Amino acid sequence: MQWHSFFLAAFLAVSVGGQSSATDSTTATSLRTPTYVAPPTGSYASYTGQVTADTSARSSTSSCSGSSCPSSPTGSQNATGTGSSSSTTNTLLLQGSNTPVPTGMNTTTNMTASSTSSSAVPTNTQPCNNYPEFCSKRYMNVTEVCAHNSAFTTPNNAARNQDVVILGQLNDGIRMIQGETQYVNDTIYSCHTSCDLLNAGTLEAELTTVRRWVAAHPYDVITILLVNTDRVDVNKYTAPIMDAGLGPYLYEPPKIPMHRDDWPTYGEMILSGKRVVVFMDYNANQTEVPYVLDQFSQMWETPFSPTDINFPCDQQRPPGLNAEQQDLVPYLANHNLNVEINLGSFDLLIPNFAQIGVVNANNDSTGSLLNMANDCTAMWGRPPAWLLVDFYDVGDGSVFEVAAKMNNVTYSRPCCGQTTSVSAASGLLKPSLSLVAGALGLLFALQ
Ligand SMILES: *[C@@H]1O[C@H](CO)[C@@H](O)[C@H](O)[C@H]1NC(C)=O
Ligand SMILES: *[C@@H]1O[C@H](CO)[C@@H](O)[C@H](O)[C@H]1NC(C)=O
Ligand SMILES: *[C@@H]1O[C@H](CO)[C@@H](O)[C@H](O)[C@H]1NC(C)=O
Ligand SMILES: *[C@@H]1O[C@H](CO)[C@@H](O)[C@H](O)[C@H]1NC(C)=O
Ligand SMILES: *[C@@H]1O[C@H](CO)[C@@H](O)[C@H](O)[C@H]1NC(C)=O
Ligand SMILES: *[C@@H]1O[C@H](CO)[C@@H](O)[C@H](O)[C@H]1NC(C)=O
Ligand SMILES: *[C@@H]1O[C@H](CO)[C@@H](O)[C@H](O)[C@H]1NC(C)=O
Ligand SMILES: *[C@@H]1O[C@H](CO)[C@@H](O)[C@H](O)[C@H]1NC(C)=O
Repeated sequence: MQWHSFFLAAFLAVSVGGQSSATDSTTATSLRTPTYVAPPTGSYASYTGQVTADTSARSSTSSCSGSSCPSSPTGSQNATGTGSSSSTTNTLLLQGSNTPVPTGMNTTTNMTASSTSSSAVPTNTQPCNNYPEFCSKRYMNVTEVCAHNSAFTTPNNAARNQDVVILGQLNDGIRMIQGETQYVNDTIYSCHTSCDLLNAGTLEAELTTVRRWVAAHPYDVITILLVNTDRVDVNKYTAPIMDAGLGPYLYEPPKIPMHRDDWPTYGEMILSGKRVVVFMDYNANQTEVPYVLDQFSQMWETPFSPTDINFPCDQQRPPGLNAEQQDLVPYLANHNLNVEINLGSFDLLIPNFAQIGVVNANNDSTGSLLNMANDCTAMWGRPPAWLLVDFYDVGDGSVFEVAAKMNNVTYSRPCCGQTTSVSAASGLLKPSLSLVAGALGLLFALQ
């Protein structure tokens, strides 16, 4: 263990227990807080057009056999015509609730209106990602919430980004699992900055949790965004993904890259069973591994890990997109506010705990998630496909309320962390920045 890791572990251990307060941000001004931090760099794939994906590798990579195959709902995403009840009985229909559908639908549709007239309009009541309205919407045409660094929930650790573990995140409505991964001892781990600082275990274990949840929730589409911190070959990621059992669920796109209008609807993905979409920020190679999608040719991001509470909506990564390229793909809004701590050889970004209530708010305060979502919608003519947040539970569902506003639906679910065991005192464990700063002062005094 290097010296800074040792001291870091020591200060992380002492820097918990304080309540966030307004004075924290004052203390934090003694830390270095530039407007932007430098975004990660790496090589970006760029395409002048689209190519048709070679599907020959598919059956070998993501198939399953016999009884190990998960069952998917069978039915129709687009049932047309006015079919009689006899020919359409038992058809599972997944489309938006306001779309006319044939009569004769059962459990997932509203039978009440269907008995007498072929012009009656039964409605789909089966939710896709919690809302029936989403069934007929394309993946990427819905605003979903992403739990930034989903795996980093270690209690009492100042480098954690979430209170609620991944299982609870998914139960609450998080639909993008995201986070830093590192290649250590021939294994991919979910580690934050350094495995000495915060090691959340292997990626395989994390993805196994996701796969179990996915198997138990046949009407949900989940996205996983892998941060390849060490820029290792994409083949190092195939074992954890496959060994976690995700193979049968992995979506393999028909085109490279996919543009906004190329994506299937949620209903189509659910009926096909291919409802886990994996992206990687750097070193994806879709020719080689068709189910690990290159992030930056298929989505762009607003500024990385902002330290500016105004949360500008500028397009940052990948660099240099023109207006036409920006419009072709969806975008992710980074809405996690950080403070940057410099420890000599090592810059560390940690969440700005003092501001998290305002940052996640569904109101008009400067820095609120609602303000950013509205600003970005005004700037780009469409809302972000993803709202990336820290401590999504702070605000009791406010982040999901903001997403619901973007999607023109009504949020009415319990939140957050109720349905899984989390630390009962999680709210009290937020590190205090003044204590962090105090510990840093001690560190520098010791140098
Ligand atoms: C449903 O399918 C029919 C026939 O393929 C097509 O004409 C129609 O546009 C589709 N409707 C929707 C809402 O996708
Ligand atoms: C429709 O109802 C029948 C009888 O209740 C049931 O067996 C069947 O599973 C239902 N179909 C769907 C798609 O839910
Ligand atoms: C079914 O439709 C009727 C009439 O429109 C409505 O009153 C009822 O609430 C609906 N039921 C469900 C489960 O959507
Ligand atoms: C989804 O499509 C509708 C209709 O084109 C558009 O108004 C809306 O902004 C889109 N939402 C997202 C998140 O792309
Ligand atoms: C990697 O192996 C070394 C040597 O056995 C060990 O000290 C270290 O903790 C391991 N790292 C992780 C992340 O497991
Ligand atoms: C992707 O993989 C293919 C097949 O192995 C290889 O030919 C190609 O050079 C790789 N592309 C990149 C950018 O590494
Ligand atoms: C917005 O919500 C946050 C968190 O509840 C609160 O601190 C702030 O005062 C609110 N702002 C307004 C303008 O209501
Ligand atoms: C929002 O939903 C309401 C109720 O379903 C509908 O009347 C309205 O047209 C929708 N607005 C937009 C912009 O889609």
